[in-house]
Amino acid sequence: MLTDKTIVLGITGGIAAYKAADLASKLAQAGAKVEVVMTESATKFITPLTLRSLTNRPVVTSMWELTSEFSIEHVALAEAADIVVIVPATANIIAKLAAGIADDMLSCAVLATEAPVVIAPAMNVNMFQNSVTQDNLAKLKDRGFTIIDPEYGRLASGKMGLGRLAEVEKIIGIIKQVLGRSSDLAGKRIVVTAGGTQEAIDPVRYISNHSSGKMGYAVAEAARDRGAEVTLITAPTSLPEPVGIEVIQVTSAVQMKEAVAKATAQSDALIMAAAVADYQPKSTVKGKIKREIAGADLTLELTRTPDILAEAKGNFLRVGFAAESENLVENAKDKLQRKQLDLVAANDITAPDSGFNVDTNKITLIGKDGEVEDLPLMSKREVADKILDRVAGLLPPPSENSFEVILRPVMVKNHFIGIPALQKTLFPPMNTALVLLTEVGAIETNIIRRGSSGGLKLTKGLIKWFKAHPELKPGDKLRITVLEPMKRYRLEIVKLEYRK
Ligand code: CTP
Repeated sequence: MLTDKTIVLGITGGIAAYKAADLASKLAQAGAKVEVVMTESATKFITPLTLRSLTNRPVVTSMWELTSEFSIEHVALAEAADIVVIVPATANIIAKLAAGIADDMLSCAVLATEAPVVIAPAMNVNMFQNSVTQDNLAKLKDRGFTIIDPEYGRLASGKMGLGRLAEVEKIIGIIKQVLGRSSDLAGKRIVVTAGGTQEAIDPVRYISNHSSGKMGYAVAEAARDRGAEVTLITAPTSLPEPVGIEVIQVTSAVQMKEAVAKATAQSDALIMAAAVADYQPKSTVKGKIKREIAGADLTLELTRTPDILAEAKGNFLRVGFAAESENLVENAKDKLQRKQLDLVAANDITAPDSGFNVDTNKITLIGKDGEVEDLPLMSKREVADKILDRVAGLLPPPSENSFEVILRPVMVKNHFIGIPALQKTLFPPMNTALVLLTEVGAIETNIIRRGSSGGLKLTKGLIKWFKAHPELKPGDKLRITVLEPMKRYRLEIVKLEYRK
């Protein structure tokens, strides 16, 4: 998903600057075009040559040198960006951005960009905890910036404290999440389950299965990367919690059922990758079962667990997995019907590279229409994307005569709305009057084209609408419904909190 994305990577002067080299390298390897902008103090910690070599792109270090294609018009960099990421962000750059100071290439680019901005602070613990820094960060969050909180650990001063740069892998996860907002699952809410449930026999023993949770976690992460808002309901696993996903830890099938019922109340799809235990002990023994008391043979009485998928009620897409050891397609089709599914991913658990506890999987996708798609052996992440391709195809597309725009800080500040290039065919040529119907009345407005990205700007008259909505924040979503293309539009506001 990073392929061909333009990532403006701002590096400021802190000891963690060397870690930005690792980040730049990983982003470039993933196919992104990484445009590095370094502040003067950053160049004291790490050389521009290092970044230039890792990204294969010129590195911008000053507004005034003419060696870079961006130096002539610094705004071009801001416009080219799909995302701006500042790693590490010092207290100084945070303060400058909060105050709107633009005295170097990086602060200019951030002020001028309409792309989302992600910053990863790293500094001395006292500087970080100082109320000035905290106030500044709160201001930036309010404007829609994504802040990747620093972690606790050993700092440059030798002291332990909060202020270490977040792990590079975490930063990459968040970049993908922020970029994914514009992808095919943007705005969709997806609930994923993972792991093998544990059914308690007594306080120390349980019944479970070999599920590692890897398939479900891969689906959750892939859905996040495609822009979905993901809730992952997971039975115990040894996997780290994914970033940018709401994670709900459960243990038993009964707990998972409750969590699923709650989470699906407002969701678009449920993807049940969990290996739910089919049976649970009829009752959990309160104290530990002692050998002397239980004797030579111990009989456990088991009872069925709820079938979570079959019993999940509501208007959302249902995707199940079918773990089979024989008659794969037949059994999977039977499950699809029995559990009223839209899609089933069947896997042969007896195949060596497939199923439990490995990083690969070989599945067959079977749709409600009976269509069977046999996939080759792939990584679980690739399988996840194949499943999500089908999910995205099954979910209703956004209405053709309406589209969504996320309010950016610069729009709120300067009272305009940026229309994505994709929608420009709906709008009349420059300076033709068009009418926006809003709850504060009809507003006559006009458009101007903006920048290289080919988008449009809705300008004149919007001041009145913005003034009527002092509650609007960057990150809120606007829905624009086209009543008559080229002439009349309706504006709705949908509140959307930027995820952290
Ligand atoms: N599933 C569920 N609740 C259960 C059992 C299974 O929601 N109590 C879900 C699984 O998460 C999976 C699908 O149903 O998505 C099929 O699970 P599977 O174990 O393959 O099938 P079972 O329904 O358990 O049937 P069988 O054991 O007969 O194969």
